[in-house]
Amino acid sequence: MVPRHVAIVMDGNGRWAKKRFMPRLVGHKFGMDALVQLVDHCAERGIEFLTVYAFSSENWRRPDEEVSGLMDLVLVGVAKYLQRLAERGVRIRMVGDRSAVSERVRQAWDQSEQTTAHNTRITLTVAFNYGGRWDILQACQRALREGTAPEALTEDHLARHMALAHAPDPDLFIRTGGELRVSNFLLWQLAYSEFYFTDCLWPDFNAAELDKALAAFAGRDRRFGGVAPAATGAGS
Ligand code: IPE
Ligand code: IPE
Ligand code: MG
Repeated sequence: MVPRHVAIVMDGNGRWAKKRFMPRLVGHKFGMDALVQLVDHCAERGIEFLTVYAFSSENWRRPDEEVSGLMDLVLVGVAKYLQRLAERGVRIRMVGDRSAVSERVRQAWDQSEQTTAHNTRITLTVAFNYGGRWDILQACQRALREGTAPEALTEDHLARHMALAHAPDPDLFIRTGGELRVSNFLLWQLAYSEFYFTDCLWPDFNAAELDKALAAFAGRDRRFGGVAPAATGAGS
């Protein structure tokens, strides 16, 4: 079975660059190229939603030069790739705390969402200045602001206020770069996702690496808290 929704922590850009004696930002640039190519591979395999972690709430702790380089990369990415993605049927959604990013970055987000709003082949959600805790908190704040009574605040109601309300929960979570942690990505939405970790550094994550992850996913037995269905056939 192909997952409907794949969520990826695109980690390892810095180490990829370091191995090549290049600045970390070069790794981020190649990482963006890898993402643009991967979107197509995902669409070809029937994946409907791809959600990627591009900048976490905690990534502000990096040196100023790297933070501003990552912000600039949003502008470069939109200038370089938006048209191509739009032509390939990709719908882009940006999620994260808009309040802390510059007006130029916000405009680039709006432009990419508006340009691709009518596309239906695959939805690419980019989590930027995103944190799973921020997401849960902002959903609660929005619900309270609407005047939701405490007893009306159900899981479904809250889910409709979360940043990924436009997508089903991820079926498959992938983290490249070898670290075995979630790093404050989709804390609410990963409740029943299958996890796949690989040492592959993000700029090297290509179609073959994606297929390895999809093959691992296909072998998983998802029970959602239930019991495995009884085996069928003679003798069972
Ligand atoms: C992930 O790559 C991309 C972002 C966090 C923006 P890193 O920059 O974390 O790369 P490593 O983990 O240092 O190799
Ligand atoms: C997670 O990677 C964030 C993104 C990929 C955007 P980090 O490299 O920031 O995570 P930690 O610091 O190793 O947990
Ligand atoms: Mg990292």
